[in-house]
Amino acid sequence: MTTDLAELGELAEALATEAGELVEEMRAPLAIDGLEANATTKSSPGDLVTAADRAAERAIIDGIVATRPTDAILGEEGGQRAGTSGVRWLVDPIDGTTNYVYDIASYSVSIAAEVDGVLSVGVVYNPKTDTMFSGLIGSGARRNGVTISCSTASDLGTALVATGFGYVAERRRGQAEVLAHLLPEIRDIRRFGSAALDLCAIACGQVDAYYERGLNPWDLAAGTVIAREAGATVGDLRGGQPSPEFVLAANPALFLELRERLTDLAADQRP
Ligand code: IPD
Repeated sequence: MTTDLAELGELAEALATEAGELVEEMRAPLAIDGLEANATTKSSPGDLVTAADRAAERAIIDGIVATRPTDAILGEEGGQRAGTSGVRWLVDPIDGTTNYVYDIASYSVSIAAEVDGVLSVGVVYNPKTDTMFSGLIGSGARRNGVTISCSTASDLGTALVATGFGYVAERRRGQAEVLAHLLPEIRDIRRFGSAALDLCAIACGQVDAYYERGLNPWDLAAGTVIAREAGATVGDLRGGQPSPEFVLAANPALFLELRERLTDLAADQRP
């Protein structure tokens, strides 16, 4: 089985487009019948999941299996498969489900492929705005086919910083404490509500940095490839790879200073 990255990227874009269409079609009843009838919760009352999350993940997994039956898969809504090809897909069928439910145009289908354990392909598609972000390791990042790059701003005091919050109350309290210290020291904060799109916002210079504690691998995988290919640095607070413990993405001129500040605030050590 080929591991041609361009082919993996084309498959990811096709599947993200198809899943995005399904997600948009399935939103109509939500608008008519309302939240209670159409969404249930997972880890906390704030952690929503809809029939569209499940149907989109099913469609993506079916599409991968039909084309590449020996690849491994990890999906947010429980889709998991072992593989033998060295390729593993990480799938978030709707990243930003809360926005989807409330009809706020910041949600995305996020599909990444790791090759031999290395994040190599990332596709993040916002079906509401019909915006496709893509990145292939070593080949740059694109928004609707046009090359994008991260900002060059180097002053933390005037940096626009995106972040997000977990679903569990105790974690949120810790995240709010970090934010209470950081907010007076930067230009402003943005909370868009889709980690995958936050990382794409870094990639196209809409924000200068993004950090969050407690993401899942499927939230951050595709956006990490895209942000890196746009020139951003993406890691944790200890010199390692981004992980559920912590992800910090920033243009290289800001990364170390912000990492130091977040380390001082113990941002990766709170609940
Ligand atoms: C969530 C979003 C949100 C982030 C949360 C994630 P979901 O993903 O990415 O921006 O702050 O931590 O869990 O639940 O909508 O797939």
